[in-house]
Amino acid sequence: MYRTHTCGELRIENAGQQVTLAGWVQKSRKLGGMTFIDLRDRYGITQLVVDATADQALVETASSLGREFVIQVEGTVVERQSKNPKMPTGDIEISLSALRILNKAMTPPFTIEDESDGGEELRAKYRYLDLRRNPLKKALELRHRIAHEVRNYLDAQNFLEIETPYLIKSTPEGARDFVVPSRMNPGQFYALPQSPQTFKQLLMVAGYDRYFQIVRCFRDEDLRADRQPEFTQIDCEMSFVEQEDVLNTFEGMMRTLFKNVLDVTIPNPIPRMSWYDAMDRYGSDKPDIRFGMKIHEITSLVQGHGFSVFDSVPYIGAISVEGAAAYTRKQIDALTDWVKRPQVGAKGLVYIKVNEDGSIRSSVDKFYTPEQLQAIADFMEAKKGDMILVLCGEKRKTQTMLGVLRIEMGERLGLRDPHDFAPLWVVDFPLLEWDDETNRFYAMHHPFTAPKPEHLDLFYSDRKEDLEKVCANAYDFVLNGTELGGGSIRIHEADVQERMFEVLGISKEEADYKFGFIINAFKFGAPPHGGLAFGFDRVCALFGGQETIRDFIAFPKNNQGRDVMIDAPSVIDQIQMDELHLATTALDKE
Ligand code: AMO
Repeated sequence: MYRTHTCGELRIENAGQQVTLAGWVQKSRKLGGMTFIDLRDRYGITQLVVDATADQALVETASSLGREFVIQVEGTVVERQSKNPKMPTGDIEISLSALRILNKAMTPPFTIEDESDGGEELRAKYRYLDLRRNPLKKALELRHRIAHEVRNYLDAQNFLEIETPYLIKSTPEGARDFVVPSRMNPGQFYALPQSPQTFKQLLMVAGYDRYFQIVRCFRDEDLRADRQPEFTQIDCEMSFVEQEDVLNTFEGMMRTLFKNVLDVTIPNPIPRMSWYDAMDRYGSDKPDIRFGMKIHEITSLVQGHGFSVFDSVPYIGAISVEGAAAYTRKQIDALTDWVKRPQVGAKGLVYIKVNEDGSIRSSVDKFYTPEQLQAIADFMEAKKGDMILVLCGEKRKTQTMLGVLRIEMGERLGLRDPHDFAPLWVVDFPLLEWDDETNRFYAMHHPFTAPKPEHLDLFYSDRKEDLEKVCANAYDFVLNGTELGGGSIRIHEADVQERMFEVLGISKEEADYKFGFIINAFKFGAPPHGGLAFGFDRVCALFGGQETIRDFIAFPKNNQGRDVMIDAPSVIDQIQMDELHLATTALDKE
């Protein structure tokens, strides 16, 4: 037997017991002839001690240990003289009678401590060493726990976990596909699923009325803190349901996760907001409602006073920032530069300060009387000490910029505590989104999303203005400004699906080629159905109080989509290329 106990297990009650432990040497130090070793495994750290009077060979082996050596020890549990209340095993130590080196280790390139001295790139290269660190271990434990709770909850609700294939055909989630060449079918490619969307709908046609899967998805898109090229969804679908049924089922799931994993009670019911309100009041389709600072449109209050910047735009909006009247000239200039960065994209920033003495000062004093400025402050419900920040331009773009500014000011004011959880359903999304560049409509969610039944007339209209007004039974689950999940009630009639492809400018031939299988399936008795998918990595990260998902994935990719540990992607040899009937073009010339 390699061990009788783990390194996190022994307590004062075990004093006097003979034990065998195995693990990694966290560190070792000598003190007055004694050698102290911290032995670590997945469960914790236990202190080992070798007395100067012990067997000479044992003393020598103990002195030869390096960091991360793998060892097995035997000894007696004894009460420590100087206890460490910060460690669960801090009351005891093991007085060794035997020590065996199971494997030596090279000195690790960074310290295996909670706060490591290793840079990100180095830690990524030695991910298996980084994973020995406590914060990462905790993140993976949390991930496991959440997955377990998800399975328990959905199983109790009669959901079946069914796997769907990875080597498939393009799925229309809006990103680029990763493709895999087929050796047996020269010149042909599989696409890796961006989600199992079409398969879960086919399972509904097949009669499996409650499906779920904790499943890997693949999207070739630009990466961000909350995006990975391969990520995991809690993917679900239900038949014979309306939007309300889906929302209730998954509200229940999130409530259970919060309670069982974090012991947090979230609001019941979870608040709902229409997409239009989210955009108008928060400048985002994923509002962070942990704080107010809502956007107000002030167009009619400020136009017509001779300020040409305001008079020449369709929309002027503002937020009121608590306590920010104390901002100095220099701070305001810095903030103005901040909103002008390409990531925000504003042309300039107007401010109105409501000073503590009640006076009002603004960057547009020339054009407005103090009474007019006061009227704006009243409309904004700005108090003494607050500062109103104003942006203007095209409506949705300006609202989005105000939304970004709002989040920044919320961050600066410390209103975004990661341990404060504010979930929200965003509902009533528009079905379609017009794109000026390509001069066509795109599906806001995906092309299988159903228009609201009461908007079917608009959906069959040929006028762009009508189509823009069509709302979908689509919904997003938002937590603290992050989109955690999204879904919709689907189209289940072949003719409505065909109309959807037509609206999206997808020809009948193209629709048949890409999605003929699902249009066809709908002709064989498709039940009304709907569902959603949660970003599992995002759920884990937010539960863990982080915005970056990377540490909640055992082996993630870096920002260039590379796995620097295994060095992928990489070039494949010519034989493999030939077998796959592949030739590269651009790179051959380099
Ligand atoms: P959607 O595209 O909204 O919907 O994806 C669902 C959720 O998956 C997460 N997510 C990601 N997480 C990490 N990295 C990524 N690159 C990434 N992309 C998406 C988000 C998102 O809310 N088939 C539909 C669901 C449905 O209609 O049932 C779908 O995939 O948290």
